[in-house]
Amino acid sequence: MKNTNPTTTEAWKKLQAHFENAKDLDLKKEFEKDPGRADDFTLQWQDFYVDLSKNLITKETQTLLTELATETGLPEAIESYFGGEEINETEKRSVLHTALREKKTANVEVDGENVISEVYEVKEKIRAFSQAVIEGSKKGYTGKPFTDIVNIGIGGSDLGPVMVTEGLAHYKNHLKVHFVSNVDGDHVHEILEELNRETTLFVIVSKSFSTQETLANSNTIRKWFKKAAPAEAVARHFVAVSSNVPAVEEFGIETENIFPMWDWVGGRFSLWSAVGLSISLSLGYNNFESLLKGAHEMDEHFRSNSFEKNIPVQLALLSIWYNNFYKAETQAIIPYTQYLHRFPAYLQQAIMESNGKSVDRNGNAINYQSGNVVWGEPGTNSQHAFFQLIHQGTKLIPADFIGFKNSLFDDKEHHDKLMANFFAQTEALLAGKAASEVRVELAAKKLSEAEIEKALPFRVFSGNKPTTTILIDKLTPESLGKLIAMYEHEIFVQGIIWNIYSYDQWGVELGKQLANKILAEIDKNDVQEHDSSTKKMLKFYLS
Ligand code: F6P
Repeated sequence: MKNTNPTTTEAWKKLQAHFENAKDLDLKKEFEKDPGRADDFTLQWQDFYVDLSKNLITKETQTLLTELATETGLPEAIESYFGGEEINETEKRSVLHTALREKKTANVEVDGENVISEVYEVKEKIRAFSQAVIEGSKKGYTGKPFTDIVNIGIGGSDLGPVMVTEGLAHYKNHLKVHFVSNVDGDHVHEILEELNRETTLFVIVSKSFSTQETLANSNTIRKWFKKAAPAEAVARHFVAVSSNVPAVEEFGIETENIFPMWDWVGGRFSLWSAVGLSISLSLGYNNFESLLKGAHEMDEHFRSNSFEKNIPVQLALLSIWYNNFYKAETQAIIPYTQYLHRFPAYLQQAIMESNGKSVDRNGNAINYQSGNVVWGEPGTNSQHAFFQLIHQGTKLIPADFIGFKNSLFDDKEHHDKLMANFFAQTEALLAGKAASEVRVELAAKKLSEAEIEKALPFRVFSGNKPTTTILIDKLTPESLGKLIAMYEHEIFVQGIIWNIYSYDQWGVELGKQLANKILAEIDKNDVQEHDSSTKKMLKFYLS
């Protein structure tokens, strides 16, 4: 892969000069000037309609950003990514979540070995296991079929599965799925209160099988289980997904109940692997396959389309435009479906754990901004929460609006209301409301001139706030697969242009180490040297 400081490229210099002229771009005027703007900036692909026209860009911006992608080596990097090169250099690993959704006939090599047959072996294991649990042929220790599944995992071993099972809840079967992630004991005990040992299956998901939270929760749950069930029943009720087979066996899980995963799949990109077992259990294997199929379609789109027509590339370029030129700090993700209420949280890990880096691929501190802050909530709830700040606050917050043409219950009345809000918000953010319009409105309410003048500044909306609209036909396993993969590739493109390593996460280690040290001090009731704030609080906690 090329190793270029993006700010030293010709394209960056041109973008900087272009920004000096473009920064005052008035979107409303751009639309007035160019009746073809929506056509020019809309990408339509399969069931995806992606409208970029309400962004603070011109055709020249797009051309220059595309040049930046080329100059920083994106074309070659895409081939390295899909080709299984060790692009995660700091961990010496390939990054091949795309191989998990490849066709059976594909050839994807890691260390000279085609990994696709192994991928399909594990998929077959997931299929057979899910089917047996769903149809009830696999039973608990008293011979009853399973009714509840508990996914025990954190980070990528939780967020992907929980986001998808909630996101596709409409397609789920009779099994009730619970997620235990936090080491907060109140959470695990609250969930255990709902469960019947005889009919509950526990799926421990931990790539490393060394994560404190997951091991603590698994131990607590196994202890709870053994309180009223015979020890040998553990083997029937606990399965694990991990790449650390010895540690899983040591925990007491039988080899046949271990679903392997691989070093070349990063935790936050792992829902396509056996980490998605709870997805397959709750939605059925066919739906899990459709999710993978959708992601594969997006992989193909990303890999084969020119940058101008490439949805993930264009989204990544826009994020760079705002982040590095407009200096926007955050990006909002607003899905207009309650089903996707965990989608922003899922993307927070995917995006921020990947691109929250300040050292480049040479090991040097970077002199430009990298990963932005991602946040969001479903619309319309978010409209009644934080939209005030997006409309009238002082910060520039580019937002992705994700909506669906069709609802799942076909309640047209509700869906039209929901979608009217969806369209209205991006229009309002673009157009704003001029003082002249406010004046007319207030005059119609019979306010005096003096009252109008006083009220005016608070009711004016500047508009010119950028949004990207992603309108999809319907929320299905396949379309959700495409949507997730779209953001995965956006993350990749950002990382290439920012010249950072997107697939490690050293930044989460320090806190883990210190927590272990502090836990030992708490256990011994012996507070050691810390800064005075930490020391005083620890003493207060122990008192
Ligand atoms: O938060 C750090 C992290 O390593 C994530 O990248 C990962 O998804 C999570 O912890 C869980 O790790 P594991 O699956 O190994 O338990």
